[in-house]
Amino acid sequence: MAFGHGKLILLGEHAVVYGRPALAAALPQGAEAVAEPADRARLEIAPWGVALDASEIQADERAEQLRQAFCALLDGYDPLPAFRVRVELSLPGGAGLGGSAALSVAIVRALDAALGRQRDAPAVAEAALAAERVFHGNPSGIDSALAASGGVALYRKGSPLESVRLGRKLTLVVGHSGEQGSTRETVASVARQHARNPAKLDQIFDGIEALVTNGRSALQTGELWRLGQLMILNQKLLSSMMLSTSRLSEMCQAAEQAGALGAKLTGGGGGGCMIALCEHAAAAERVQHALEAIGREAFIAELGA
Ligand code: PMV
Repeated sequence: MAFGHGKLILLGEHAVVYGRPALAAALPQGAEAVAEPADRARLEIAPWGVALDASEIQADERAEQLRQAFCALLDGYDPLPAFRVRVELSLPGGAGLGGSAALSVAIVRALDAALGRQRDAPAVAEAALAAERVFHGNPSGIDSALAASGGVALYRKGSPLESVRLGRKLTLVVGHSGEQGSTRETVASVARQHARNPAKLDQIFDGIEALVTNGRSALQTGELWRLGQLMILNQKLLSSMMLSTSRLSEMCQAAEQAGALGAKLTGGGGGGCMIALCEHAAAAERVQHALEAIGREAFIAELGA
């Protein structure tokens, strides 16, 4: 089975689109794909009820976007491969968990496997970026890089992924706001704000870069308290760009009141998910219950050794 990881952005989303570094951790959840020879190229994503032919324009907007992304991946092969690609997902879409990159990486790996082609993770991530451009417009590449490599890493556009060795394992609660976030729209909104007031936005991005640099050392030394404080500051900067929603803010507050070391939205924002860093598994369960008590779904992710 060909696999692509989902991911959590620990610090640095959006600023990463403007060349600043970001810290991200791959999730064990993601997308699995298998490709089998067929008379023409087809994509099937059972959990989303998608079954489409690459050459047939789709009436449904979301299905058409998936078709175009699939075609962008197929275009990376010469000659165009005719395969039926079936995908299973263990991640929600539009949640800021890198679902589209996980999907794209899994498809590339499935096609490569079917064609007997071998590529390393950076080359797979690069190929998957063609689909991310369809989904996101202007992706930084962080989602595809993590989806292909796994692990915890610092990413900067145009540079190789720098793996981060954790001083302590990370226990995070991932809470879903129940609101669908569109990364394409939030990235476009930040671009408009940047065009209107570049000095102000660059200052925010510089602030986020400082949090990321500091966060990398907190991850390495295992100073979770420090990492939590950095997440709280990152959430404030993301809110100042109107990327949080009242529901996400309420969830971060509830998590911190229940004992989380820090909480922030993760990924594109405008809905989707937030993450809360916890000292240990028992604390994470309390935070999970606090989020469920305000009507939100949440799961615990344990990352690294
Ligand atoms: O919403 P997601 O999981 O695709 O995360 C997007 C991260 C951004 O920094 C907002 C965009 C990007 O391409 O880096």
